[in-house]
Amino acid sequence: MSIHWQCYPDARAAAAASAQHIVTLLTHTFEAKPRASLAVSGGSTPKLLFEELVKFPLPWDRVHLFWVDERAVPPADLQSNYRLADENLIAPAVIPTANIHRIHGEAPPETAAKQYAADIREYFGLVDGELPHFDIVQLGMGPDAHTASLFPGDPLIEDRKGIAAAVFAQKVPRWRVTLLPGVLLAARNTVFLVAGDDKAPAVKAVFEGEYDPQRFPAQLASRHGRSVYWFMDAVGRDCIPRADL
Ligand code: 6PG
Repeated sequence: MSIHWQCYPDARAAAAASAQHIVTLLTHTFEAKPRASLAVSGGSTPKLLFEELVKFPLPWDRVHLFWVDERAVPPADLQSNYRLADENLIAPAVIPTANIHRIHGEAPPETAAKQYAADIREYFGLVDGELPHFDIVQLGMGPDAHTASLFPGDPLIEDRKGIAAAVFAQKVPRWRVTLLPGVLLAARNTVFLVAGDDKAPAVKAVFEGEYDPQRFPAQLASRHGRSVYWFMDAVGRDCIPRADL
């Protein structure tokens, strides 16, 4: 396990650097196999990432796109993580529909979670009980150190066997579907993109605080994920650019 982190003057610069890193990872993956699996987060920061990613002339038809989590809303809803990616990545990069593995936010959350897990099992050719190894999982983090839709105090943070689950979150929209910790930990590469002054205390807690993923869920993937890279802005925090921790 290795954690690499780098600070940038602002969110756009951090997004551009994370996009370059993801493109490098995808390019290496394509040297070994015909297609790559990329799971992206939602919220607002990923918009910057998507805008930077589409600047690269990648063979996007070899990228299969998944989501780390989704809100229980229809795909056309402004709160939809799928819509954010569709408008800013899928359409501009012309990623084929067959490569899009969206979470069906319009369905009842439990049904959507089951459908998503079945899609993942089919794509990765998993037998029961086996977890997928995404080539890249891109994560964000909230000011409460949540990541994906794993919020502080959620018992699902202890789950190491499941693939996806419906969760009822404090954040509106309340019902969500999320990948579970075992899947996040099984990823070959983890890329955190985190920006915003309001997240400085959570960044400090994740990196330097006592290990307590119930309080700081992002610690789980950050400290126990594989090939973990953090890209963050430096505004408002004593973020001293360091190559490796
Ligand atoms: C979501 C995200 C969520 C996000 C954090 C950070 O659906 O909201 O997946 O986990 O990564 O809330 O969001 P920002 O990057 O927009 O601050």
